[in-house]
Amino acid sequence: MKPKRTRLPGITLRDATASDADAIMRLLADVNPDDPEAFEGARPGLEMPQSGPLSHFRVLIVVAADGTGRPVGALLAGAPLWLLEHESNIDDVLLEALIARVGIITAVAVDPERRGSGVGAELVRHAVRRFTRAGYGLLTLNTLPALESYYQHLGFTIMDDLIVNLDDGRMLGQRWGDTRVAARALDRHTAFADVPGLGSPVVSGLLPGSRVPRGAYFDGEKLCN
Ligand SMILES: CC(C)(COP(=O)(O)OP(=O)(O)OC[C@H]1O[C@@H](n2cnc3c(N)ncnc32)[C@H](O)[C@@H]1OP(=O)(O)O)[C@@H](O)C(=O)NCCC(=O)NCCS
Repeated sequence: MKPKRTRLPGITLRDATASDADAIMRLLADVNPDDPEAFEGARPGLEMPQSGPLSHFRVLIVVAADGTGRPVGALLAGAPLWLLEHESNIDDVLLEALIARVGIITAVAVDPERRGSGVGAELVRHAVRRFTRAGYGLLTLNTLPALESYYQHLGFTIMDDLIVNLDDGRMLGQRWGDTRVAARALDRHTAFADVPGLGSPVVSGLLPGSRVPRGAYFDGEKLCN
C-alpha cells in the first residue's frame, strides 16, 4: 500500500516494513505494561514481503507516521488464533473458512505525546477498511472496561461472549476471562442477532448458510426455531 494521507495534518498511514520493527515494539509495549514484550512475536512477520490479502498475507501491520516519517502509532491485526485452541475441535475446512472471514485487532497504540488527537481512531478505521476490502465479515478485538466506550465510538459492539452461528446449526462460543469482546460486522451478510436464551448477540451470516432464522431461540444446547 502506498502511504495514505489522513484527515490529521502531517499524519500518513502505511504498511509496516522490517525497518519499523523497533519503533512498533516500543509503541506496542504500552498496550500491556505488565508484559512489554508481548508483541515481540510479530517481528518475524515484518520480515516477510508485503503481500495480500492484508499487508503481510493474513496479518495487517500498519504504522501512522508523522511528517518526518517517524512512526507515532501502530496497529497489529491478523487471524483469530484462539480458534486453533478452541475446545470444540473445529475441523480444518471450517477453520479455514472462519480464518478467511474473521480478523482480530491484537494491539493498537499511539505515542503518549500524540494521544487524543485522532491517530488511534485513524488506525482502527483503516483496519476496518482493509479487512472489509479483503473480504472479511467480522473484525473483533478484546478490550478492557476503560476502552469499551472508545471502541463503541468506532462502531464496535461490546459483548461478553463471541458467539458465531455456523453453517450446520451449531454455534461456536468463546469467552475471555479478563476482557470483553468488541466486534464489528464488515459486510451486508454479517449481522448481530439477539437470540432469547443467550446473553450475548449471535454473529449471523458470517459463513454461507449461517444466518440466524427469524424467531430463533436457544434451548440450552442448540439454536431452535
Ligand atoms: C487507546 C489508544 C490507542 C487511543 O488512541 P488515541 O490516538 O489517543 O485516541 P483518539 O485520539 O483516536 O481518540 C478518538 C476518540 O476516542 C475518544 N477516546 C480516547 N480515549 C478514550 C477512552 N479511554 N474512552 C473513551 N473514549 C476515548 C477520544 O476522546 C476521541 O473522541 P472524539 O473523536 O469524539 O474526539 C491510546 O490511548 C493508546 O495508545 N493507549 C495505550 C495502549 C492501549 O491501551 N491500547 C489499547 C489496547 S490494544
